[in-house]
Amino acid sequence: MKFLLTLSFCALVLYTAFANASDKHDIQPSLTMSANSSVADALSLKVFKSPTCGCCQKWIDHIELSGFKATAHDTDRLNQIKTDSGILPQYQSCHTAISKNGFVFEGHIPAAIVKQFLDNPPKDAIGLAVPGMPMGSPGMEMGNMRDDYNVLLLKNDGSSDIYEQIIKPR
Ligand code: CU
Ligand code: CU
Repeated sequence: MKFLLTLSFCALVLYTAFANASDKHDIQPSLTMSANSSVADALSLKVFKSPTCGCCQKWIDHIELSGFKATAHDTDRLNQIKTDSGILPQYQSCHTAISKNGFVFEGHIPAAIVKQFLDNPPKDAIGLAVPGMPMGSPGMEMGNMRDDYNVLLLKNDGSSDIYEQIIKPR
């Protein structure tokens, strides 16, 4: 029951994010990687989330288990942070993570894929997103219920490509 409540709250946050988002945003190009950024810096993320979102905390636990250093920032300005980060409404999820070098990671992205991106950021990319909150994504485990979902590559012109397809085992 507690989980269901958490989930519905996150869904509400998500809905509010969609409802309040406007159609047009200025896209901030991501900062370039500084030459002397260390490995520790590369794996440290600021995670902006609502204070009451349980699945956000579970995602943070997941990436920390995978070697990231996450700093959680509870905020009621999530919509503004997403807008300022260039995450268009169709790409939005519950939490927004930002790396030291300015890349954005929106929603329940598997840690290994965040690492893969940071190891070799594609040209013109601002980051990655898993829109919505697919069942079975990290932090959204619900028994053996699983959605297939895509990790999207967000470009600085507002378009996206499929970066990775996550298909459930059949
Ligand atoms: Cu979530
Ligand atoms: Cu979240």
